[in-house]
Amino acid sequence: MNQEKNQEKLAEILGPHFNNIANDGLFVLKALGLPKGAKVLDVGTGAGNFAIFLASQGFDVLTGEPATDTTHYAGKDWAASAEKAGVRDKIRFEAFNASKAPFETETFDAVFFFGVLHHVDEAERAATLSEALRVVKKSGTVVFFEPRKETLEKLWLTDPTHPLAANPSDYLTDKSVTEQKLQGAMMDVFVYRKG
Ligand SMILES: C[S@@+](CC[C@H](N)C(=O)[O-])C[C@H]1O[C@@H](n2cnc3c(N)ncnc32)[C@H](O)[C@@H]1O
Repeated sequence: MNQEKNQEKLAEILGPHFNNIANDGLFVLKALGLPKGAKVLDVGTGAGNFAIFLASQGFDVLTGEPATDTTHYAGKDWAASAEKAGVRDKIRFEAFNASKAPFETETFDAVFFFGVLHHVDEAERAATLSEALRVVKKSGTVVFFEPRKETLEKLWLTDPTHPLAANPSDYLTDKSVTEQKLQGAMMDVFVYRKG
């Protein structure tokens, strides 16, 4: 089944919100050209939408969030959705804080943050970026999806306390890293590669 057909099927199972996320995800994956079976880290599991999307695209997915996060956005039953989508066996979960990532240097082909950086404590954001760049392979990419203005306005209808979007470049200390910006329908996308 091709990527689009696969996505249509998942959208029927998981609903329109998943479909919007997957649309932005597909557009970015086309730009990245990651091979099937690539080892990817999905930071900030939440409801599991992005981890499920990545697994549905044939990647080897490790996802996680801090065990200490008691906000409404963490501790969700992502596994039930992954089960429904038929990809539960393709996703591993490990609790971790991205500012102290418990992974070896140069482990992943790509590290994704979908709707996550603005939820990370401001004081931990610079360390979160440098940890993501440490654990990604030399040839790899670190990708942040942050909500566009229109997306934030919709989020504020149900959660008026939802934080503003973050610009990852504000927290980037390694000047040899290159940045590429892309614009999805829902999210602004920031792609970083080691120089
Ligand atoms: C809105 S949810 C992300 C949505 C999710 N990616 C999805 O596709 O459904 C925000 C996530 O950021 C995580 N988070 C916040 N601070 C973090 C940190 N320091 N390290 C890792 N994850 C963090 C939260 O625990 C939560 O899982």
